[in-house]
Amino acid sequence: MPGKTGIPPMFVCLSGDKSPTDHILTVRGFAGSGARAGVVTTGNQPFEFTPVASENHRLRTREPANPRTPEPPNPRTPGFALNYHPTPMIPPSSLDTAAAARDEFRRQFGTSPSGVVFAPGRVNLIGEHTDYNDGFVLPMAIEDGMAAAYAPNGNRVLRIHAREFGETCEIGLEDGTRAVEEFAGWFRYGVGIARTMAAAGHRLIGTDIALASTLPSDAGLSSSAAVELSIARVLAATSGEPWDPRRAAQIAQQAEHEFIGVACGIMDQMAVACARTGRALLLDCRSLRTQDVPVPENAGIVIVYSGVSRTLAASAYNDRRAACERAVRAIRQIEPSVRALRDVDAELLERARTMMDAVAFRRASHVIAENARPGALAAALREDDLGTAGRLMNDSHASLRDLYEVSSAELDLLVTLALAQPGCHGARLTGAGFGGSIVALVDLTAVAPFSDSIADRYRAATGLQPRVIVSRPAEGVRLI
Ligand code: GLA
Repeated sequence: MPGKTGIPPMFVCLSGDKSPTDHILTVRGFAGSGARAGVVTTGNQPFEFTPVASENHRLRTREPANPRTPEPPNPRTPGFALNYHPTPMIPPSSLDTAAAARDEFRRQFGTSPSGVVFAPGRVNLIGEHTDYNDGFVLPMAIEDGMAAAYAPNGNRVLRIHAREFGETCEIGLEDGTRAVEEFAGWFRYGVGIARTMAAAGHRLIGTDIALASTLPSDAGLSSSAAVELSIARVLAATSGEPWDPRRAAQIAQQAEHEFIGVACGIMDQMAVACARTGRALLLDCRSLRTQDVPVPENAGIVIVYSGVSRTLAASAYNDRRAACERAVRAIRQIEPSVRALRDVDAELLERARTMMDAVAFRRASHVIAENARPGALAAALREDDLGTAGRLMNDSHASLRDLYEVSSAELDLLVTLALAQPGCHGARLTGAGFGGSIVALVDLTAVAPFSDSIADRYRAATGLQPRVIVSRPAEGVRLI
């Protein structure tokens, strides 16, 4: 019923058209609600419309074959109020993507798949570059992601087709010696997951997989973790192995270290594996303990991809990690019990300042302050205090820009443009940085004009094509 799935119950029509069968309504407050199925009723009459599709801000509804009122009201009138009664369901883009993966599977392998897995992308709300310092993070899964249609193939072979690359690759499950560099970049994730699962004792069976994705790669939205976890979930399903999301996240992280060469933390894999609908995931990266944090219904989470992919990300990322390790080595000279920057406060860092280089000091200063922000943002979200939440996001961005030095001119511009829009409480770069995306916290009622305006202004200023993604917090990897 209204509100139960985090969707506002009332929408106001801004404008409307009519096709021979459907009403196309531009509806304030609809964007990012994740809504598709349900019933739309008028405020005071029992007339019902069934939503048949939605895109950003637009809701396509159909009159029932036998309307209960002789004179149906016209929902296309601007200002017309609609009550929306959603049916709890799988978020829409996962269904569309799953259908695309199924079609692709039939085309490529000539049979029907036996199942489909959907792995979401993630956006990190706060806690950046803290995960590999044993700290705290607060990501959420998003509705965009990757679907993997699959079926056992009766051979000892893993075959994966990637719709986005138009390519099929395969490797024998016994073929542990072929160098990973021999494979296409995207397929290394598949090889890495299969080998890491096998080394961890999983008894894999030959499987065909077709992948279809709506996630831009290199946008800082964890397309890597989505491909890793979707393949891990498929291989667990076909081989009849039990599914342990935390363990799977650790396997995916290990595969990324060993087969992709990025010494990433555990945030992305844990978010994709464990996130819950309507909730952000407060994660302690040392213990892997999690808390689900409800994201208020009036909080619009808007992601804007800068159109600049994260070039040189792997080496710059590994450099940042190395600087944190230098800081820890210096601090241990005066406080040997310290295991990671998570164990250090500002006062201890200051005492150790002369024992480390200036770069390591700046990086550690960011991590120590940033590590307090996920808990603080979680508290603000629980109290529906979007003002405080926004300020924390702004502080995080300034620290990533000035101390951690992972922002870019485009990301800084997007943050400035975001903060100039009405209804925006805060904005920051999200993910590793060096290009990619920002995330903004926007009043739900302001999301539509915010999205249009930031895209127009950014395009005009840079000539680059941004992509705006509005998402409610989604469910982690799942069979659908
Ligand atoms: C990437 C890594 C994560 C994390 C972020 C920065 O997304 O994969 O582990 O370190 O960067 O917060």
